[in-house]
Amino acid sequence: MKDILTELEARRDIARAGGGARRVEAQHAKGKLTARERIDLLLDEGSFEEFDMFVRHRCTDFGMEQDRPAGDGVVTGWGTINGRMVYVFSQDFTVFGGSLSETHAQKICKIMDMAMQNGAPVIGLNDSGGARIQEGVASLAGYAEVFQRNIMASGVVPQISVIMGPCAGGAVYSPAMTDFIFMVKDSSYMFVTGPDVVKTVTNEVVTAEELGGASTHTRKSSVADGAFENDVEALAEIRRLFDFLPLSNREKAPVRPFFDDPARLENSLDTLIPDNPNQPYDMKELIGKVADEGDFYEIQKDFAGNIITGFIRIEGQTTGVVANQPMVLAGCLDIDASRKAARFVRFCDAFEIPILTFVDVPGFLPGTAQEYGGVIKHGAKLLFAYGEATVPKVTVITRKAYGGAYDVMASKHLRGDFNYAWPTAEIAVMGAKGATEILYRSELGEPEKIAARTKDYEDRFANPFVAAERGFIDEVIQPHSTRKRVARAFASLRGKKLSNPWKKHDNIPL
Ligand code: HXC
Repeated sequence: MKDILTELEARRDIARAGGGARRVEAQHAKGKLTARERIDLLLDEGSFEEFDMFVRHRCTDFGMEQDRPAGDGVVTGWGTINGRMVYVFSQDFTVFGGSLSETHAQKICKIMDMAMQNGAPVIGLNDSGGARIQEGVASLAGYAEVFQRNIMASGVVPQISVIMGPCAGGAVYSPAMTDFIFMVKDSSYMFVTGPDVVKTVTNEVVTAEELGGASTHTRKSSVADGAFENDVEALAEIRRLFDFLPLSNREKAPVRPFFDDPARLENSLDTLIPDNPNQPYDMKELIGKVADEGDFYEIQKDFAGNIITGFIRIEGQTTGVVANQPMVLAGCLDIDASRKAARFVRFCDAFEIPILTFVDVPGFLPGTAQEYGGVIKHGAKLLFAYGEATVPKVTVITRKAYGGAYDVMASKHLRGDFNYAWPTAEIAVMGAKGATEILYRSELGEPEKIAARTKDYEDRFANPFVAAERGFIDEVIQPHSTRKRVARAFASLRGKKLSNPWKKHDNIPL
């Protein structure tokens, strides 16, 4: 008996050694942790339960039968993050470059199936040379099995991808179908075809970092939702994000203890809006002052800065925030901002996370680049996302809410539950100057008349009361009481029940 126990430990030790000391050293030399070190940092200490440690590949081509390491290049299992369950796979670059074989894929599929069945999120730590070249189509089939599960799990359990090394070829499409993608700066990249193929086909000379590094994907392509300095920071931040999320669409997000008075007044907000309507101010200040303990987890911080998305808690409850940012492009909606916010709103709605919207939007960004780029279709994504969302929706207009953008930003007409405005709100078809220049075109040569007309228009429309008269604004609130009012609004909506008509699925303008 003792021998068998010793043998088990010996086998485990061999499996845990992955690709061996030399390759582990090479991994560390690149500033990367190993698959197991990453799991240790991601999960609560001692909580990891491993599956399939002894799985080996079945490939017999190219001499592969001589090299069959236990675990086959991926560590899979479940554990907890701050006591809440999560399934994890972590690709082991020290074993065949973390490449995906038939059996490697089966291990991932097994935990994905369990995650769906048992209602817990999946976190994938990706560090892989892609399809296992020796296995050919068997490994492509393995990828497709994973893809299919990503699709089925979408909206059922949160899925988070962390890119911690190479992620190339069709392999990028598994992370692409998960809810959030995070990268590690300088050690991870994602692309469909690498720099060599790009050179051959388009004659462009580009490095892997330029083509698909963290900066490219967080700033240009918006494929990634955030990037971190190193593995340790990335894993710590994933733990922080995880705490905001529900385990599945069958459960509500966790309620955390809070030490911040929900009725806290913030007198500084009374002077947040500058006297000059064209002067920007930082919308993040408002978000920080409304959030419990000022804690804000921003999503897509480096992309489309004209809209802000992320999670806060109010009375300990996770709340998704979408806010126009007057500091960037005057807070205009454009293609990028619409896409970014639409996806975020849909995530919140899929997982029953209430949405708080702060509005200061002068309209959609004009221009040929926007029109040719399809701003109509992309803007419609955000409109659609807000309109279909059935979660509690609380909206606060701080300053401008002009034109179509007024409608889009969680207006009353899109089933906003509480639509508040600050006294500084201006709700109109467009700004006063533009409006008078259209209405009184014949007087354009007479600046004094135009100034008087503009003033008239401002007096009539540059306030929240016209909308409030019609009930489109439920209440005009004092800026300093925003946290209190928003907290009470969400508290009153905890029992909200609203459903959309039955359909197979909608046809959101993709
Ligand atoms: C088998 C692989 C492998 C792969 C790497 N290795 N990629 N083994 N299949 N796809 C092995 C190497 O042979 C090496 O083994 C070890 O992993 C480390 O690789 P190195 O090249 O030494 O590491 P590095 O210099 O860091 O380069 C990493 C890399 C490079 C950039 C990922 O290995 C690479 O370009 N690999 C091929 C990438 C690729 O073309 N994959 C297929 C993409 S297409 P030893 O024994 O020396 O340690 C694809 C289709 C998916 O994925 C489609 C889904 C629909």
